[in-house]
Amino acid sequence: MHSAEPDRPHRLPRYLVNTYSWAYLRPRSIRLLDHNFVVNLILWGQSRQLIGAVVNRLQPNTRVLQAACVYGDFSKNILTRIGALGALQVIDVAPIQLANLRAKLQGQTNVTFHLEDLTHPVIGSFNRDSCDAACCFFLLHEMPNELRMPALRNLIGALKPGGKLIVTDYHRPAKWHPLRWIMALVFKFLEPYAQSLVDISIESLLPKDAMYLLEKRLFFAGLYQMVVITKQP
Ligand SMILES: C[S@@+](CC[C@H](N)C(=O)[O-])C[C@H]1O[C@@H](n2cnc3c(N)ncnc32)[C@H](O)[C@@H]1O
Repeated sequence: MHSAEPDRPHRLPRYLVNTYSWAYLRPRSIRLLDHNFVVNLILWGQSRQLIGAVVNRLQPNTRVLQAACVYGDFSKNILTRIGALGALQVIDVAPIQLANLRAKLQGQTNVTFHLEDLTHPVIGSFNRDSCDAACCFFLLHEMPNELRMPALRNLIGALKPGGKLIVTDYHRPAKWHPLRWIMALVFKFLEPYAQSLVDISIESLLPKDAMYLLEKRLFFAGLYQMVVITKQP
C-alpha cells in the first residue's frame, strides 16, 4: 500500500474543525459512525441505491480519484468495481480519516492515500488530466459555498479529457416530501452549509473556462442528486 502524505505541517479547514469535529475528527466518533448501517440511516435507507449509482458509472481497470473518505464500504465498492488493474487515489484533509481508511483497506495494493485540502489552489499529489473518473460523495454540502468551486476545479483538473466527475449530494426535495421539514431542521442545527447547496445547482459551480456534458439524476423524491460531469476535450 502506498502513502502520499507529505512531510509538512498540515492545517485543517476552519469549517471542518468548527462544524464537523464531532463527526470526523475524534477517534470515538469514527468507531461509532464508520458502519454501513449508520451511513444507511443517515441517508434514510438510500445508501445502496446512491452508492450503486456511483459505482455503476465507473469502469473496470480505470484510475479513479475519491474526494474525501466516506464511512462504510464506499471505497471497497469502488475497488471491487475497478478491479485489481484499476487504481484508486483517495484525498482527504484529515490525517485521522486517512489512517482509518488505510486500516479498513489493508491488503489492497492499488490504493493510495493523499493528505491534501481539496479547496487549495494547487494539489500536489496527483497529475492533471490523469484520472478516468472522480467521485465526490456528500462532500460539497459540508463546505462553505465559496470553497465549492475551487474543489470542483481541482477534481475536474485531475480528469483526462472525456473523464467523468460524479457528484452525489443533497438536493431540494419535492414540496410534499415527508422528510422535508426534518431535513430543514437537520440542515439548521447540524449541517449549516447544506442549505446553500440545495438552493443552487451544482452545474452553476463548475469553472466557466471548460466545456462539459452534464447528466443529472434525482433520487428519493428529489432529496438527493447525482450529477455526472464529463470533461470535454
Ligand atoms: C466525504 S465527507 C462526508 C461523507 C459522508 N457523510 C460519510 O458517510 O462519510 C467527509 C470527509 O470529507 C473530508 N473533507 C472535508 N473537507 C475537505 C477538504 N477541503 N479537502 C479534503 N477532504 C475534506 C473530511 O475530513 C471527512 O473525512
